[in-house]
Amino acid sequence: MAVTVTTLKKMKDAGDKITWLTAYDYSFAHAADQAGIDSILVGDSLGMVIQGHETPIPVTIEDSCYHTQCVARGATNAMIVGDLPFGSYQVSKEQAYANAVKLMQAGAHTIKLEGGELQVETIKFLAERGIAVCAHIGLTPQSVHKLGGFRVQGRGDEAQRLIDDAIAVEEAGAFAVVLELVPKTLAAEITERVGIPTIGIGAGPQCDGQVLVLQDMIGVYPKKSPKFSKNFLQDADSIDAAIGRYVMDVKSGAFPAAEHSFS
Ligand code: KIV
Repeated sequence: MAVTVTTLKKMKDAGDKITWLTAYDYSFAHAADQAGIDSILVGDSLGMVIQGHETPIPVTIEDSCYHTQCVARGATNAMIVGDLPFGSYQVSKEQAYANAVKLMQAGAHTIKLEGGELQVETIKFLAERGIAVCAHIGLTPQSVHKLGGFRVQGRGDEAQRLIDDAIAVEEAGAFAVVLELVPKTLAAEITERVGIPTIGIGAGPQCDGQVLVLQDMIGVYPKKSPKFSKNFLQDADSIDAAIGRYVMDVKSGAFPAAEHSFS
């Protein structure tokens, strides 16, 4: 049966680890789907790994829709998450709704947007209109220039703000929350405090699930890959086997290891 938001919630409640992976085209979506990935994120990381930009900021809603359409043709079981790019949802909740509709008509089952408490009204508005929303807190790459770089978030006094963000998005109706570049003990506390699945990237092993950028995961991104990522193709003889190994290692708790996490 195809993966839904209900499947993910049941997995959290049962303590079964959730696997997400990004993909941006038909062939890799098909490979991820066949390997048993629970959810494919058509992330705005496509700005870096597909388009060659330094940040996701140049990505447009048209780019996101195009790649979502490609992915939707390749996946039959995985839940597809479309990513609202920079500038496509921050103006008003009506703007967010109009662009979420575009992503869903392109084939996304659910959508993701960056932000915690600041996005509560928008998340509520979308959820009340039948759209499943995943929030994204911690390092939010669309704000990289405001944050002063791709840096760990939530250390010291900032920790409480991230806990409040996670609780606020759950109360607003989000079905999951991505935690990016967050100290592992904070991510564990947030995972404990919310009822919705937490999906970590650079957030330690105690999140309910993990997500990686595909190109980092198979070691083909020519620029520096982040410390929290791992090249699974190094010890595998095919891309299919590498994705399969990632799924196994997330499910068993072998990934992320201590060297992929932050304190
Ligand atoms: O765009 C993306 O790939 C993401 C992940 C890093 C979570 O948002």
